[in-house]
Amino acid sequence: MTRFGLGRSLFWTIAAIFLLTTVVGTLLQALVASAVLQPLEAREAKARAELAASAVAGAIAAAPSPPRGAELDSLLERQRESVRPAWIVFRGTDGTIASAPAGRFIALEGSRGDSSSSATGRQDARGRFEIIARRAVTRGPTVIGEVQVMRRNWSRGAMGIVGSRNSILLFPIAIIASAFAGLVLVRLLVRRLHAMEILAARVAEGDLTVRLTDRSGDEIGRLAEQLNRMTERLAVARSQIEATELERRQLFADITHELATPLTSIRGYAETMLDPGVPVSQEERTQYVRGLLDESRRMDLLIRDLFDLARLEAGAPLSRVRLDWAALCRNTIERFEPRFRRAGLSLSWNQSAHEAWIEADGHRMEQVLENLLVNALRYVPEGGAVQVELTPESGERFGLTVRDNGPGIPAEELPLVFKRFYRGAGSSGGTATDQGGSGLGLAIVREIVERHGGTVRARGNTPRGLAITVELPGRGPETKERAS
Ligand SMILES: Nc1ncnc2c1ncn2[C@@H]1O[C@H](COP(=O)(O)OP(=O)(O)OP(=O)(O)O)[C@@H](O)[C@H]1O
Ligand SMILES: [Mg+2]
Repeated sequence: MTRFGLGRSLFWTIAAIFLLTTVVGTLLQALVASAVLQPLEAREAKARAELAASAVAGAIAAAPSPPRGAELDSLLERQRESVRPAWIVFRGTDGTIASAPAGRFIALEGSRGDSSSSATGRQDARGRFEIIARRAVTRGPTVIGEVQVMRRNWSRGAMGIVGSRNSILLFPIAIIASAFAGLVLVRLLVRRLHAMEILAARVAEGDLTVRLTDRSGDEIGRLAEQLNRMTERLAVARSQIEATELERRQLFADITHELATPLTSIRGYAETMLDPGVPVSQEERTQYVRGLLDESRRMDLLIRDLFDLARLEAGAPLSRVRLDWAALCRNTIERFEPRFRRAGLSLSWNQSAHEAWIEADGHRMEQVLENLLVNALRYVPEGGAVQVELTPESGERFGLTVRDNGPGIPAEELPLVFKRFYRGAGSSGGTATDQGGSGLGLAIVREIVERHGGTVRARGNTPRGLAITVELPGRGPETKERAS
């Protein structure tokens, strides 16, 4: 069963880590600001304030007459920029107050209704203002007032940490914006990983047609490409296994069928002979016993051939030696000549290669030619001609061709002749003395030839008949010298 979307998503883990990092980073940033930047800023502001206060105090002291009203305001206004965002204030001993920005401080003081107490201490009663610089103003021996630089007191609470109102607003916005960007990024990654999860689940369920469409060349894209390639290869491997399995089943069915056919005949003969109700003459009895023998011989041959083929396919060792293929063919043909003569067939040997040195298992190479000659004996009707020819081929190879003028095989069936259990339509024909075979002879031929690094092919003979050519690599001259 596929389980998508269940279990913990990587999205939430990454998102949580991201948010935590953002919050911790922001707090650290604020702490650094309050521990390092703010004191530096305060020191600088104090220095500027003291300079401004001294300048104003000096100007008032040096004036020909104590400045008042607009004159005093413009004096204070001139220092305003250098003390921003603080205020610069003049408090006269006679109770006059002047400030820059114009009247702002006076207005604030007025709204509190307690100007005298706030103006004299370093901080007002509620800690709202802080005096960061002050200078007494004297004219001659008389103190006529004091210049003060004041600012709002930010040093307590959260405002003290972050330093300014702007920063307070920017921090949450920065946190939200970066968290949002991070979440979008994580979401994209998680979606691509999720597609891979789906692919893996489908493959686990046996669906090998599924593919990922992630074409980006980054790490995840490359992983997707590898997964696609892996799935493709799995699909190919599975189809190969299925084809092998099908072939195996077909083979078992063929073997069962091939064994069952002679067994049925044997049982039929035996039952007929044992049935007291069926009168059997001596002649019929002999015929049945001959039938029994033929069928059991056929079974024996079939089992031997099957065993032989299985051994070859399983890689049974070959005893390969350097041998003259031409001499080997000549001997085999001599052995078969009497059988061909009895069957009313002509057998000719054409040897254009005087010697044909190959490295092969002599017994197996004999078996190859025997199988081809037995086929000719079996399928070429009386009066037919069979030619065996050994020729040098290109690339230091030799070709052995057995051709006849028998019924041949239809062109469309030629590719099938080397398959196990293939029997053509004419396989039951042939000479009167021989029966049809089990369709293993040419399969054995192909297996032996391929084990020797050679090839075998069948083609039609002109004007009629079949030609089968076996090609084997010759043994190189330098090897020949060493071996001889
Ligand atoms: N020379 C030939 N002329 C016509 N048909 C042939 C010839 N040789 C082979 N065949 C066809 O090819 C089929 C396969 O041949 P193969 O030698 O593999 O099997 P078989 O002769 O039927 O049985 P086995 O060789 O196992 O006893 C034959 O059944 C026959 O139909
Ligand atoms: Mg045969």
